[in-house]
Amino acid sequence: MTQLIKLADKAPVAVGKKRKIYEHPFHKEWLIKVYKNNSKKPKFFLNKYFVSMHHHHSYLSGFVRELREYVRSRYLKECSIIPHMQTIIGFAETDMGLGMVVLALRDAEGNLAPTLKQLIKQKKLTPELKVMLNSFFTLLLHVELAVGDLNWKNIVLAYDHEDGERFFLVDGLGDKTFLPLHRMFKPVRRHYIKKRIAKLRNNIDKELP
Ligand SMILES: Nc1ncnc2c1ncn2[C@@H]1O[C@H](COP(=O)(O)OP(=O)(O)OP(=O)(O)O)[C@@H](O)[C@H]1O
Ligand SMILES: [Mg+2]
Repeated sequence: MTQLIKLADKAPVAVGKKRKIYEHPFHKEWLIKVYKNNSKKPKFFLNKYFVSMHHHHSYLSGFVRELREYVRSRYLKECSIIPHMQTIIGFAETDMGLGMVVLALRDAEGNLAPTLKQLIKQKKLTPELKVMLNSFFTLLLHVELAVGDLNWKNIVLAYDHEDGERFFLVDGLGDKTFLPLHRMFKPVRRHYIKKRIAKLRNNIDKELP
């Protein structure tokens, strides 16, 4: 029988809007992302129907669409964003439901890699890192994959002995909308990414004049 990995009694190392992130109990270099079902109890039937439809869609897009784009990245002839994508190891059955297992990205001290938001807020985005970030943005602009949620918490700065520091996309792959417009239409994709990059640059300028 499948042994469920116990996470419910542990503290997550990070929490997003959709998922809780736990260290894998047997492999410290892995993380497990589990979907948090934080459904409020709706009063009316119609409400309940839409809430459950929304959860179903968000659950599926969290797993299937992200995975689909991940697999597709390996099929595309040139996909220069690959070295900047978190590695998906697989799936795990946990007491909090199906979890996605990924390689943990860390800083030089072994802590969880800081997000772009943390770097900006803590004024740690040096001019060298800004140059690195700009190259990362350029790659994103030309990416053939659907990136449906580009924000400063989905980008982290990781360190490893061989390659030094590098920006990674840890989430946001795959369309978030019912119709996968980013995957289907390049102009939609580019327009969205351009807009999001402009927003990120704006955040940087506001915090780091
Ligand atoms: N591979 C990873 N390595 C290090 N940290 C990670 C990794 N994946 C996620 N994180 C951390 O966990 C946080 C939440 O993860 P993730 O963005 O996957 O969750 P989410 O709930 O899907 O996010 P959202 O709030 O965008 O819906 C990230 O902002 C990041 O700080
Ligand atoms: Mg996220």
